[in-house]
Amino acid sequence: MAKLAIDGGAKVRTKSFPGWPVWDESELNALKEVLESGQWGIGNSKVTEFEEKFAAYVGVEYGICVTNGTSSLEIALMAADVSRGDEVIVPPYTFMATASAVLMANGIPIFADIEPDTYNLDPDAMEAAITDRTKAVVPVHIGGCPADMDRIMEIARKHNLLVIEDSAQAHSAEWRGQKVGSIGDIGSFSFQASKNLCAGEGGIITTSNQELGDKCWSYHNCGRVKSGGWYDHRVLGSNFRMTGWQAAILLAQMERLDEQTEIRNRNGIYLSEKLSEIEGIKPTKRDERVTTHAYHLYILRYEADKFGGQPRSRFLKALSAEGIPCSSGYNPLYKHDLFKASIQKDPVMYGCDADKADYSRLHLPVTERICDEEAVWFTQGMLLGTQDDMDDIVEAVKKIKDSFTQ
Ligand SMILES: Cc1ncc(COP(=O)(O)O)c(C=O)c1O
Repeated sequence: MAKLAIDGGAKVRTKSFPGWPVWDESELNALKEVLESGQWGIGNSKVTEFEEKFAAYVGVEYGICVTNGTSSLEIALMAADVSRGDEVIVPPYTFMATASAVLMANGIPIFADIEPDTYNLDPDAMEAAITDRTKAVVPVHIGGCPADMDRIMEIARKHNLLVIEDSAQAHSAEWRGQKVGSIGDIGSFSFQASKNLCAGEGGIITTSNQELGDKCWSYHNCGRVKSGGWYDHRVLGSNFRMTGWQAAILLAQMERLDEQTEIRNRNGIYLSEKLSEIEGIKPTKRDERVTTHAYHLYILRYEADKFGGQPRSRFLKALSAEGIPCSSGYNPLYKHDLFKASIQKDPVMYGCDADKADYSRLHLPVTERICDEEAVWFTQGMLLGTQDDMDDIVEAVKKIKDSFTQ
C-alpha cells in the first residue's frame, strides 16, 4: 500500500491547481480607459454599463453597484424596512455578513437549520422559525448551489416576507433555468477577490421592484434621489458607490464568466460521479432543479466511520499533504460572540428581550454536525482545471481511504 505523504510518502500531486484571479490584456485596457477618462469615480460610464449588463444577465430590471457584498446586504435590508424589533431568518452556515447585516439594520437574526444533503437553508426550519415579528428571510446559495427557491418563495409569500437572496457565491447559478438574484425580491452579489466574478472588492444589488431599487440607489448614494440634485439628501444613506476601476475589471471578467461556469460544471459533475464511488464520501446534493451550479465551492461530506474512524481533521491534513488544498469551512454563525454580544449589550435598541438573543442556548444539529465533523471544501479555482486534475483529487482520496482502513 502506498505510504501517505503525511507519513513521508510521495505526494499524489506536485503541480499546483489553476491560479485565481484570471486576467489578461482586456483588464489592462479597460483600466487604462478609466485612467484616461479622468472620471475615476462618480460619472464613470463603466459603472452604469456594468450595472445594466449584469442586471440583464441576471434577468432583472435594476442593478446597483456597491462597495462589497456586505454593504449590498445591509442596503437591501434597509430597503426592506428592517428595523428595531424585526426578525430576519438566516441560515447559520454562511459567511458572517449574511447575519451581521441584519444587526446593522437593527434587526434580530433568527438562525434556522440547513438541509443535511445540500447545506442550504431548510424550508421547513425556515417556516418553523416564522413569528409575527418576522420581516424577511435571507436564503444563501451556499457554495454556488441554489437553495430550494420553490419552497422558500411559497412560504415567504404565504407569510408576507421579503426574500433577499444572498447570491454572493452564486454568480451565474440557475434554479429551473432562472438566474439566482432574480427569484426573490432582491438579490445581493459580492465581487470580493475569491469570488467567481471578482474585482478585488465590490458588490451589486439586483431587483425588478422599482420602489426597492430606488431605495437601494438612495441608500448607496448618500441619501440622494435619482431625480434630485447633488446636495439634495432626502434619506439617511451613506457612500457605498463603486469606482470605475472595479467596474472596468468586472466588465472584462464577465466576458469569461459563462465559459468558466461551464468548465466548473463539467468538472464538478465529473468529480461528484467519481467521488460517489468511494464509500464514506458524499458530495453535497445537486437538486435536479439546479440547472446551473456556480461551484464557488465544491463541498463534500466526509463520513469518518467509513474511513476507519479517523476524524475529518486528520483526513484534511492527509489530503493537503497529498497536494490537494482543502479546508473544513464555516463554524455555526450563532456561536460567534458578536451576535450574542451585540444584542445583549443593547436589547432595547434591538427591541427584543435578552433571552431571544441568548444564542448560547441555540443548537441546530445539522449545522453543528456538518461544521464539527463532516464538511470538506475545495475552492472554485481548482474546478477550472482539467479532468486529470479531478482524477488527482479522486486518487488522493482513495489512497487515504486505503491507508485509513487497512
Ligand atoms: C455568502 C456571503 N455573503 C456575503 C458575503 C460578503 O461579501 P463581501 O466580502 O464582498 O463583503 C460573502 C463573501 O465573502 C459571502 O460568501
